[in-house]
Amino acid sequence: MRVISPERGHVLIVATAHDPLGANAGPMPVHRSRLMTAWPGRLADGAAWEIDFRRVPHWLVVGATRSGKSNFLAALITQLAPQPVALVGVDLKGGMELSMFEPRLSALAITRTEASSLLSALLCEADIRMQRCRAAGARSVWELPEKGRPVPIVVLIDEIAELYLSDGTRESKAEATECSAALLRLGQLGAALGIHLVVAAQRFGSELGPGVTALRAQLGGRICHRVHDGTSAEMALGDLSPDAVSVVQAITETEQGVAVVTVGGRWVRARSTVIRPDRAREMAREHADRTPRLAVLSHPHSTDSDRHE
Ligand SMILES: Nc1ncnc2c1ncn2[C@@H]1O[C@H](COP(=O)(O)OP(=O)(O)O)[C@@H](O)[C@H]1O
Ligand SMILES: [Mg+2]
Repeated sequence: MRVISPERGHVLIVATAHDPLGANAGPMPVHRSRLMTAWPGRLADGAAWEIDFRRVPHWLVVGATRSGKSNFLAALITQLAPQPVALVGVDLKGGMELSMFEPRLSALAITRTEASSLLSALLCEADIRMQRCRAAGARSVWELPEKGRPVPIVVLIDEIAELYLSDGTRESKAEATECSAALLRLGQLGAALGIHLVVAAQRFGSELGPGVTALRAQLGGRICHRVHDGTSAEMALGDLSPDAVSVVQAITETEQGVAVVTVGGRWVRARSTVIRPDRAREMAREHADRTPRLAVLSHPHSTDSDRHE
């Protein structure tokens, strides 16, 4: 039995014989396939949870430690791996979460210096794509003829706070500022250029550094797992869906992977499919030969227009 207030002035009482988000719900059988769409789990009404990057290009994933952020990323990667999509990882916690997927990743940065050069390579790629669109009179890569269309890129960043940490030295500060500026630029330009961001964080507020609020404004899709306090929930959802802030605070510690998803002010509860590490490794190996090679990542200054394999 759930008593929630989906909007001010309304109380919704939902009684279900079987909780679609319960621990024994099992994976969602999804046999569909659509480019840049993933079905990472299920919704509270039992339907498949759909994430369509063409509709909502960038996502912010928030949650306390062990609330289910990395599992969500894994569920997303598992869904995108069979598609003609380049997956790029940034995992500054030693690569512990994303390295399982390495055979299927077009790049993986595990130090901030690597992340910084990866992000600037992606900015080069954005520039190249922008020129191509301009030359073809297209407003986005999706308007380019399918044959010459660059492969979509999804940039997955686990624990983004590590990108902004500074040990106080000038170099470290400069690197953090660079990363933050590059991310913001990718957020602003990426949607039209087929470059998408999925950013996971425990908290996502201005204490991380300047530019965070501006980046958050670009991340129109929000997924908020259990959080420690109201301010974290507020930072994740408050600007887009104020009514969801109290809903997310009702998620308990035993409901790992349960999250409130909001898009355009509407919210819904969802839970990702559990991805065990051995399954993740196996899946990444299985789809390794689909990994697009992005020339801009191996030769950062390449402008060869035929660089995608
Ligand atoms: N959707 C889920 N359903 C059930 N258990 C989950 C789910 N997501 C995560 N968990 C459990 O919670 C643990 C922590 O999840 P994880 O994704 O590593 O959290 P975070 O990245 O937020 O620290 C996992 O080891 C797993 O056992
Ligand atoms: Mg994690």
